[in-house]
Amino acid sequence: MNILTFRTQEELNKAGAGIITGLLQTNPRAVLGLATGSTPIGIYRELVESHRQGLVSFSKATAFNLDEYVGLEPGHPASYYTFMQEHLLGLVDIPPQQCHIPSGIAPDLQAECTRYDSLLEEHGQIDLQLLGLGHNGHIGFNEPDATLEGGTHLVELKESTRSANARFFDKPEQVPTHALTMGVGTILKAKMILLVVRGADKAEIVQRALQGPITTDCPASLLQTHPHVVVLLDSEAGGLLK
Ligand code: F6R
Repeated sequence: MNILTFRTQEELNKAGAGIITGLLQTNPRAVLGLATGSTPIGIYRELVESHRQGLVSFSKATAFNLDEYVGLEPGHPASYYTFMQEHLLGLVDIPPQQCHIPSGIAPDLQAECTRYDSLLEEHGQIDLQLLGLGHNGHIGFNEPDATLEGGTHLVELKESTRSANARFFDKPEQVPTHALTMGVGTILKAKMILLVVRGADKAEIVQRALQGPITTDCPASLLQTHPHVVVLLDSEAGGLLK
């Protein structure tokens, strides 16, 4: 693992955006695995700025998002579809038909997971998978459990995840109880993984994920088995690394 620690958020954002921009410049048809949440926002802002300056195009790229809440219409203000439109995909030149996200309102959620996996399969490997890290070690919405699933699946969100995400909703009880998420198998198949973590509140889980035992109790620890992971941390998130 290549672990890089940054003193400022700006440096971290520029480094993250630079890796994605570099990939798109050498491989305009890159398949990007994208994340939502607070962590990638600054990186997406830098990417949008680079696009505005004509330094990068997404026109031939394909985007696959990690996850979506069950029960939220794409147009819901807290859906991950809306998040991606507002922070990246709606602000760059990627055609909508090249942007994929599981549908949390599909009448048959199992069929939707199968459809998403088939689509991923058709595109071969994800070239770069961007990940944030949950306080409990989740990646995507692969929550700690005795076993983990390989492909896209329905997951019941842990209460800690629901309360961490309540800030995106008017009331905590509005946070959906379930989500669809790419599985750990799909994430680990990506050619390169870019894990980004910020903040002192994540220092302990960063240490467990990167230096602790590899266990399904901390899904991010499985990233230790991947041959090409780049980790971008601010100094607070990296504060407990040995
Ligand atoms: C988001 C996702 C989650 C988040 C994680 C961290 O698509 O899959 O794993 O990356 O919950 O969230 P933030 O960045 O809001 O702290």
